[in-house]
Parts: sequence; structure tokens; C-alpha cells
Amino acid sequence: MIQARIEQKTNLTRRQFLAGSGAALAAAHWSPKAFGAGPKLVELRLKAAPARAKIAGAEYRETEVWAYNGRVTGPEIRAVQGDRLRVVVENGLSQDTSVHWHGVRLPNLMDGVPHLTQEPIRPGASYAYEFDLQDAGTFWYHPHWRSHEQVGRGLHGALIVEEREPPAVDRDLVWVLGDWRLDASAQIDPNFGHMFDVSHAGRIGNTVTVNGAVAERIPVRRGERVRLRLINVANARIFALDFTGHRPIVIARDAHPVDPYFPDEPIRLGPGMRADLVLDATGEPGSLHPVIDRFAPRQEYRLLDLQYVGEARSPGARAPISLAGNPVPEPDIARANRHEFALGGGMMGNLGTARVGERALSMREMMQHGLAWAINGIAQDEHGHAPLLTLKLGETAILAFRNDTVWNHPMHLHGHVFRVLSRNGVPAARRELLDTVLVGPRESVEVAFVADNPGNWMLHCHVLEHQAGGMGGVIRVA
Ligand code: C2O
Ligand code: CU
Repeated sequence: MIQARIEQKTNLTRRQFLAGSGAALAAAHWSPKAFGAGPKLVELRLKAAPARAKIAGAEYRETEVWAYNGRVTGPEIRAVQGDRLRVVVENGLSQDTSVHWHGVRLPNLMDGVPHLTQEPIRPGASYAYEFDLQDAGTFWYHPHWRSHEQVGRGLHGALIVEEREPPAVDRDLVWVLGDWRLDASAQIDPNFGHMFDVSHAGRIGNTVTVNGAVAERIPVRRGERVRLRLINVANARIFALDFTGHRPIVIARDAHPVDPYFPDEPIRLGPGMRADLVLDATGEPGSLHPVIDRFAPRQEYRLLDLQYVGEARSPGARAPISLAGNPVPEPDIARANRHEFALGGGMMGNLGTARVGERALSMREMMQHGLAWAINGIAQDEHGHAPLLTLKLGETAILAFRNDTVWNHPMHLHGHVFRVLSRNGVPAARRELLDTVLVGPRESVEVAFVADNPGNWMLHCHVLEHQAGGMGGVIRVA
């Protein structure tokens, strides 16, 4: 559970080099630190391959997984806003793969969607991703090919982009929340893409992990202030976390700062979503405080305990936390065009027929092809990339999601982030910028964004079985 820090290399641009050597010549107080403060090139290799990992707890044997660099979760990538990231991905699997940088606003060619933005990385082959990290925040990476199986078998990791001036905290913790469907000997149920999962809530597992292992107790010290970054990498499970005995402050959602607030409900995270919290450890030394997932009312469970260890430390001055916003353009609502996206299908829905390629198929015929969902009456699995919408570069678009199903859909847009405007016609209570918005059963949600990033961008449900079952498409920005 201890995440390795990635070695960071200093990369001097010619301009920095000249500025630096000029300073060195001119002044005696030159120090190499001046270089450290500039943007760096952060480089690493990720190899996706079969591995074994101890995920289910001490009393179980190791689980056969697919992992980046042999570990579940994959290596935590840490960089600073403005740095450039270069990752060479090697495919040690026996099927194609790719890596998508979830939430990162990057050039389309680096987005990692096979047959849309790149050729798949074939078994034995490598691919280099390289892009600037313009936004600070909590992101993650995962394959975008057969995602329901590849993510579900363990291919996922955190990408943390620190602020240039991060808020003062005593510790920065990342909890990658995963969900696995294991058998009695702790092996992964190989039945991925089962039609029951596809047509209902997705593949909900039976083993929830934090950073790749079932968590028992996380030590904290009274008086410390912890920044806690939550990332939901589960295929389908939605979390609603109650930090009993504590009042965490939400400071960012999906990487982007919000006006800090104390949530009056458990913190809800659909697949793909993130939250940054500030947790002041106010418990008594020696006490235990469960963190409980209350999403499913009759199936609440204890995720782990915060365990107070050691002496209390005196809390430092508690300056209010405020994060500087990322350079995201503000949507121009008055001049925006509104585009409806009707989400249809699933069990207990009333989807009549949907277009699959050139054909109109009934729900029954769709299910024979592994499909159960549609956006605006069009069902597209990961092979389908017909644009649902084409936007002019620079225009503001309002996406109006209307969920005609009885299931939750965390809708994710690549390459952009959007402002949530309203839910069921009621203006949003908070100003949030998200890349993934949870659209509840029968709910309507309006979001708006500036289409400032040219290319073909996926819009899909992040319940990975729903994505595989047709709930996806492309928004073209040209
Ligand atoms: Cu996190 Cu298109 O995915
Ligand atoms: Cu969905």
C-alpha cells in the first residue's frame, strides 16, 4: 500500500538553460535549485502484464491479476502542474491494449483510444505517450481497450499532479478504491461481460480494496491534517463514504477545486470519479473510527478503520484551504447550443429498438450481440466511433443528459471538463467542474463546456459493462 514515487528527471529547455547559465555567470548565489523549480520531464515505463498480487487479505492466497509493473494498483505517478509526462507503455498481455489518462486535458493523439486516436498497442509492442500537465489535481490511468476486462483484472493507477504551491497539510494520501469479483480461492471470476451485468448495474464485485489490497486499519495521529485523494477505479461500484466521527472538507472534485465545504451526506463517487478531501484528525488517541460505504442502503459495509496511534500532535495553524483553479475556459452559457443526450436501455427500461451500425435492432437482438444500451437511440460498443455531435472549435455546448433508464450512469467526456448547470431543472448548488457526472435513474443533468480541444473525443458511461454494452459515442470538435 505504499506507493512508489516515480523518479523525476530534470529536463532543461534551451531557454531555461541559457537563463540558468546566464545567472550562473552573473551572480554568485546561483543554485541548482533554480532549475528544480521549473517544469520537468517526468518519465517512466509501464508494462501491462499478468502478475500475482495479495489483494484479498492475509488468509487468502495470491490473486492472478493483470498489472502495471507487476503491482496492483499500478505505480503512482506524481508530477507538478506544468510538468511534461512521458510514459512508454509496453504490452505484455496476449491482447491489444492502450492507456487513457482519465481527466487529463491533452492533445487528442495522446488520449489512448484504440482505432480513434491511435492504433492499439499490440502484444509485445510499445507506445510512447507524452504531454504537458496543464491542470493540477487527482487523475488516473487505465486501458481503453476491453476496459471492462482489463481494468477489472487490475490495470489502473493514480496520476497525481501537485499544485505549484500545494496547500499545507501533514500528509497527502491516495486511496484508489477498487472492486473485484473473486471466488473462494481469491481468484478473479473470468466471466467478464456477462449479459446480466451488462444489462443491470454492471459488474459489482465482492471484494473492495484500497490501493490494491483489502484494507483494515489506516493509522492516523490526532492533530494531523491529511489531504485524502479518493479515486474510484471500480468497474461499476458506486461509493458513498461516511467518515464516522470526522468532518472532512471537500476541496476538489475530479481534479478541479471547489469552494471548500463540509458535505452533509456521505461522499459519493461513481466509477471514474475523484474527490480531494481535507481531513483533520480529531479522534482520541487509541480510538478507532470506521469509514463506512453507505451507497447501497441494505448493504452498508465497513471499508476500513481510521486507527489513532501515537501521541497527539498539536495542530499547526489551520489556514483555510483554498486551491487556485485550473486554466479551464468558462462556458458562455448565453451563446451556447443545447444538445440532448437520451440515455436508454437496460433491464426494466423501455428501449424499443436502437441503431447498431446500419441496422435497427430490438432489445432482444441487441442482447444477442452483447448490447443493452443506447445514446439517442444509437448503440456503440468500443468498436463504434460514429460522432454523436460535431462542435465548432471554441463554441460552448450544453449537454443535456436525460436518463430514461432505472440505472445510474456516470457519464464521462474525454479531453474536456464541464460545469454542472442543473439537476432535474434545479440549478446546481455548487460550482463544480467535472469530467464524469453521475446521472441517477430517471434524472436529467445539464452540463456545459467550451469545446476548445480539437479532435474526436469519447463520451461514454464509466460503468464499464454499460460502455461495452453500447453506451458510448464520440463528440467531434473541429
Ligand atoms: Cu476513464 Cu473513456 O475513460
Ligand atoms: Cu451506465
